[in-house]
Amino acid sequence: MKKVVIEDSLGIASELEKQMQYLIDTYQCEWATVVNDPERRKWFKQFINSDDNELGIEIITQRDQNRPADWRKNPLELPIVESIEIPDEMSWVTVGKTWDFPVDAGAVVKYGDVQLAVFQSAEGDHWYACQNMCPHKRSFVLSRGILGDENGIAKIACPLHKKTFSLETGESMQQEDYSITVFDVRVVGDDVQLNLPREGKLEPTLATAPNCSAVCR
Ligand code: FES
Repeated sequence: MKKVVIEDSLGIASELEKQMQYLIDTYQCEWATVVNDPERRKWFKQFINSDDNELGIEIITQRDQNRPADWRKNPLELPIVESIEIPDEMSWVTVGKTWDFPVDAGAVVKYGDVQLAVFQSAEGDHWYACQNMCPHKRSFVLSRGILGDENGIAKIACPLHKKTFSLETGESMQQEDYSITVFDVRVVGDDVQLNLPREGKLEPTLATAPNCSAVCR
């Protein structure tokens, strides 16, 4: 026993020391690595095309403390985006370069005060765009959803309660009354462009602030 424990006759202690030293030598703080690397910091920008920051959830102050606001009881009573297909008012707007957008995931761009989610699917190199606000609880989260397809139709599942929407028509894939507004996307050279109505048209129904009970940023 003395030989094994004190004299390390089986080499167990020295093996553990070696492993510990390896951990010490190779340890890195992942956050510090990102903070010190401008390229990796870009992954954490809220908007591809803006340095602005907006809250994805509404914070209210209660008894001198901040907390997320209660969800609306019936979000469906809120205004929805009426038809935006007014050809005269639609134009292609460049929102970023192809390499700004992750593959098989989403990113957010800002258009006026409106947040739009843009997705690039590796399968067939397809691009999709829709409002970033999930109509279920009016949370600005769809870009963080799970991209997939159902019977060949591209869909996005909201990360909060997994309601799914077609990225081709915007309709609920669970046949619910909720729907989202989708936009055409094209790539010209390296530019990613969305076909959008004039700036301001979407703001009453999709901008961050009007969709919060209080000021959301
Ligand atoms: S907020 Fe509930 S499904 Fe999106």
